[in-house]
Amino acid sequence: MRSKAHRPRRSCLAVPGSNTRFLEKAQGLPADQVFLDLEDAVSPLAKESARKNIVHALNTGDWGTKIRAVRVNDWTTRWTYRDVIEVVEGAGQELDCVMLPKVQSADQVVALDLLLTQIETTMGYEVGRIGIEAQIENPRGLINVDAIAASSPRVETIIFGPADFMASINMRSLVVGEQPPGYDVGDAYHYTLMRILTAARAHDKQAIDGPYVQVRDLEGYRRVAGRSAALGFDGKWVLHPDQIEAANQIFAPAQSDYDHAENILDAYAYYTSETGGAKGAVMLGDEMIDEASRKMAHVIAGKGRAAGMTRQDVWRAPLSRQSQEN
Ligand code: GLV
Ligand code: MG
Repeated sequence: MRSKAHRPRRSCLAVPGSNTRFLEKAQGLPADQVFLDLEDAVSPLAKESARKNIVHALNTGDWGTKIRAVRVNDWTTRWTYRDVIEVVEGAGQELDCVMLPKVQSADQVVALDLLLTQIETTMGYEVGRIGIEAQIENPRGLINVDAIAASSPRVETIIFGPADFMASINMRSLVVGEQPPGYDVGDAYHYTLMRILTAARAHDKQAIDGPYVQVRDLEGYRRVAGRSAALGFDGKWVLHPDQIEAANQIFAPAQSDYDHAENILDAYAYYTSETGGAKGAVMLGDEMIDEASRKMAHVIAGKGRAAGMTRQDVWRAPLSRQSQEN
């Protein structure tokens, strides 16, 4: 069985908890994950009713196989504890993860972990089942990202929040996820993305890229998503139904890469076995493969399997000596 923490999250759909029409509509969309928002997509005056909408939508909706998360407000606000208590007591059995925004330190994750444990215990839920998704959206969070990723076994993902991050470092741009005008010597987000990805991988967590807010510019979305996908990110937020298909495609491997990865795994398993001659480095077509190739292939094959891909080109082991002799 696929581990809970590594469920596919190619597309993570943001759904404002104050909008009952979106809460209904999101259920039928082909995103891998939804997160029902209590934070920045909900106005302060609507926070309390949004909690109720979310509990209702989780308890009565048909979310299929989608991962269901709720984004609570960050610990510097006055809403966080009630967000968690109301939503988890009200619909904890229907919830996979709580997303914590603007995380600044490992302690903030630990605080959420402890609160979740108390609610799970009180309600008779399985303790530890609900995961945590940590958003990195400010300099302090980025500096502490390693400790944040290691802070609790509940942590499943580390998420880059470009909009808040851009604001918090005073980046001179208003277009979320796009390069700031005037910076013409590379990718202004490379360090941040790589830092998050490295921390996530060091602790076996998923790395998720945040929103691209020009929702009518699908080409722009594809370009920006393609960059984090190429680095190794597992998925990206989607704010609009049109972005979902793009994310599902971009964060899954190409069919030829998927087939190739599965073939490397099969061929390597065969050639390193006794029947295959117990070899180390071997030729697969024109390519030499070894243990490092197996590890790389394992990553691509894993992403393809998670995306439900099927092989179209299957490598076959040469006939064994015994069957050749018969
Ligand atoms: C998302 O929360 C962001 O700030 O980009
Ligand atoms: Mg944010």
